[in-house]
Amino acid sequence: MLAIRLVSGPARPDTLVLPVRPEGPDAPAALVPTAVPPGDDVRAEATALLPAARLTGAAGEVREHLRPGGTPARLWLLGVGDGDEHGWRVAGAALARAAKDETHITITLPDEATDALRGLAEGLLLGSYRYRLTEAGGRPALAEVDVVVGDPEALAPTLATARTTAEMTRLARDLTNTPSSTKNPEWFAAQVASAVSGRADLHLRVRGPEDLDAEGFGGILAVGGGSASGPRLVELDWRPAGARTHVVLVGKGITFDTGGISIKPVPAMKLMRKDMAGAAAVVAATLGAAALELPVRVTTLAPLAENMVSGSAFRPGDVVRHYGGLTSESTNSDAEGRLVLADAMAYAVRELKPDLLVDLATLTGANAVALGKRHAALYSENDDLAADLLGAIAAAGERAWRMPLADDYVEYLGSNIADLHSSPSRGAGSVVAALFLREFTGDLRDRWVHVDMSAPSWSDDVHGELVKGATGWGVRGLLRWLATLG
Ligand code: BES
Ligand code: MN
Ligand code: ZN
Repeated sequence: MLAIRLVSGPARPDTLVLPVRPEGPDAPAALVPTAVPPGDDVRAEATALLPAARLTGAAGEVREHLRPGGTPARLWLLGVGDGDEHGWRVAGAALARAAKDETHITITLPDEATDALRGLAEGLLLGSYRYRLTEAGGRPALAEVDVVVGDPEALAPTLATARTTAEMTRLARDLTNTPSSTKNPEWFAAQVASAVSGRADLHLRVRGPEDLDAEGFGGILAVGGGSASGPRLVELDWRPAGARTHVVLVGKGITFDTGGISIKPVPAMKLMRKDMAGAAAVVAATLGAAALELPVRVTTLAPLAENMVSGSAFRPGDVVRHYGGLTSESTNSDAEGRLVLADAMAYAVRELKPDLLVDLATLTGANAVALGKRHAALYSENDDLAADLLGAIAAAGERAWRMPLADDYVEYLGSNIADLHSSPSRGAGSVVAALFLREFTGDLRDRWVHVDMSAPSWSDDVHGELVKGATGWGVRGLLRWLATLG
């Protein structure tokens, strides 16, 4: 990962990056005043360049200006838009991409640099992310960025937070991008174990098929039953001394979703290695909470299973007995996510008794039908909790939209043979799935948030700090939110 250093003056001024911002609709961009001003000659030159450079100052614009024989040898002008954290995040990502031939650059920040630094560092570290299994091609050369600020020491904690946030987002991206030939439930659990090893303050318990059977996790066992790679339930606990709030995070961890006996057609199955993006996000957020030593207890549950087609796969029409005893009739084995989540949520409510319960899941294609490709669908009966989480998600540069738990669909959840029908074919898909999950929230019904994040978990194109592939959606928002709890 790219190294970012805070410095009080340019040490290696081979390439100097100066931020610029919009000055108004018809005016050229203007230099942003920085804590440590560039030399008078550089400033005069940059000011003279601006009208000719045709920069608007919009976040992410980059122009290079060569200064043969000069110090610095290259001057870059970088649009930061409004100069808020978001503008700097977009600028940082654009800089990482533009600096494909540089190994080292220096950038100067404004006086009040906290938000700028956080955005810049996240943008640099996330925009330079690449997932490749071979070394060839595409990796940006940029290795070091010196960031010039007024008081490097005072900003060190901000940089550390941004770095941890980005590292954990990158971890979630790596897990989600990994092909399912490698990524089975056992492998995923082993990845969590290796991330935890050496940290006495993080506790990990992994349940295998026998444990799941002994304790009655019928949903996880049904979904995982068709695979040669048995299911797991990861339980990861960050329990800082003196924590007053206990949050349980649950993440859907289907390491591949064929649809099962209700098999998906080719185009729909193509990307189903990402069907554990919820589990990746909650695990990474929990590791991040521990790395940042957030004073809140976080227990993460990741039910992991591979939804396969085989002689031991569960069938449409089967009735599943979930953890705690509620039964559900499933007429579509492709509605598997809610079955594994139901077990984990029921376990959380009955055994862990947290203050708050949040689940993240690549649950339905209907998420994208309703909200497009970048917004998660967020459900909660608790307005304050929903507003807090939506606020943290937006502040972190992610997107979610609140959806209704529309009561008119509750009747569809009725079954003639079981307590519930898990996959009714009527109603809005993402809403019905949320209503099914609500049946497993018990006492926590109004302290629960469900996030269907199948749409924003993946990006088809380069967009700001997102690159093609897994986005790590949720890690940033969850970490922001957890940081507000005490
Ligand atoms: N993993 C899929 C949802 C999904 C679809 C995620 C597209 C990402 C992109 C989920 O298990 C699924 O198959 N859901 C079904 C539910 C239906 C059978 C009730 C769906 O959305 O069609
Ligand atoms: Mn499915
Ligand atoms: Zn799925």
